[in-house]
Amino acid sequence: MARIFVTGGAGYIGSHVVKALGEAGHTVRTYDNLSTGNRWAVLFGDLVEGDIADRETLKRAIEAFRPDAVMHFAAFIEVAESVRNPLKYYRNNPANALNLLEVLQELAVPRFIFSSTAAVYGTPETIPVRESDPLCPINPYGASKMLVERFLADLSFARDDFSYVALRYFNVAGADAQSRIGQCYKNPTHLITRALKTALGEFPKLQVFGTDYPTQDGTCIRDYIHVDDLASAHLAALDHLLAGGGSDIFNCGYGRGYSVRDVVESAKRITGIDFTVEEAPRREGDPAALVADSSRITAQLGWTPRFADLDVIIRTAWDWEQVLKRKLVS
Ligand SMILES: NC(=O)c1ccc[n+]([C@@H]2O[C@H](COP(=O)([O-])OP(=O)(O)OC[C@H]3O[C@@H](n4cnc5c(N)ncnc54)[C@H](O)[C@@H]3O)[C@@H](O)[C@H]2O)c1
Repeated sequence: MARIFVTGGAGYIGSHVVKALGEAGHTVRTYDNLSTGNRWAVLFGDLVEGDIADRETLKRAIEAFRPDAVMHFAAFIEVAESVRNPLKYYRNNPANALNLLEVLQELAVPRFIFSSTAAVYGTPETIPVRESDPLCPINPYGASKMLVERFLADLSFARDDFSYVALRYFNVAGADAQSRIGQCYKNPTHLITRALKTALGEFPKLQVFGTDYPTQDGTCIRDYIHVDDLASAHLAALDHLLAGGGSDIFNCGYGRGYSVRDVVESAKRITGIDFTVEEAPRREGDPAALVADSSRITAQLGWTPRFADLDVIIRTAWDWEQVLKRKLVS
């Protein structure tokens, strides 16, 4: 069993990975400034409250823990905000990641797993997207993640004693099957969450941005991955590095796309609520389709998803939204 230091482990995805690590018997320490994360979301291990910009606190927390690997989730994640305030994103994502990597070099931590994103591809020329396709991000968020990938590639090339896996997540959704943890953003922009919060009456209507895309029903197509399957991808990447595997990059998606209308239809069926949907113009920078070629992660890491079903994703997210609503009220 290994010792894993997790930045951003109190956030949506990080908390599901901490749960999976804990359930697998690993020893976990979460490091999080709780800017968007929550203390209650950390189900295993201890939580050190700190910022990755605070080098002294960060170094002390890592040095005392002596990790075999670091998983780095801490980042800002809102695309639209990154367009309005790019420096905020370049500071927290690449600049703070650089801080973390320097500390890891000082402490000779040999393994690193990085939360990257499909946003590094921008508007892909071919679907499904392969890891070897060109990186051409169209917003500061995607560019900020691409920069960290570059740091990692250069560092692992320079150092024989450092290896990493970057996982490029597609659209992450769903929640813990027992509704202990789930998405809890202050400003949720993800389609499934918006749809379910609209069903709960938290928003008056759900806007569908663009109905004239060159897709079967005119709406955008995305590859939705259940957060617990994404968590198991992290454990597969960890096993790979612990077994001495080399640095690598993998898409994390199911290789199957659903349109916005598919999601709306499923959300209405599962909630039993016919919430209001409004057609709106396209948004700047939304590619028509974004679907992963996920053959590399299944072949190389032996990753086997267990929740590759839109209804299952939406059902677990719906159960969680109701728990969250009660949690926030009480
Ligand atoms: N949610 C998605 O669909 C998605 C898709 C692709 C990639 N990602 C990546 O996954 C990672 C996790 O995203 P999430 O959806 O769980 O977001 P989140 O906001 O729920 O989690 C981020 C966590 O990092 C913490 N954090 C942020 N800045 C910090 C700092 N400077 N120091 C310490 N802690 C800090 C926050 O408090 C939070 O707990 C991010 O790196 C994001 O870019 C997410």
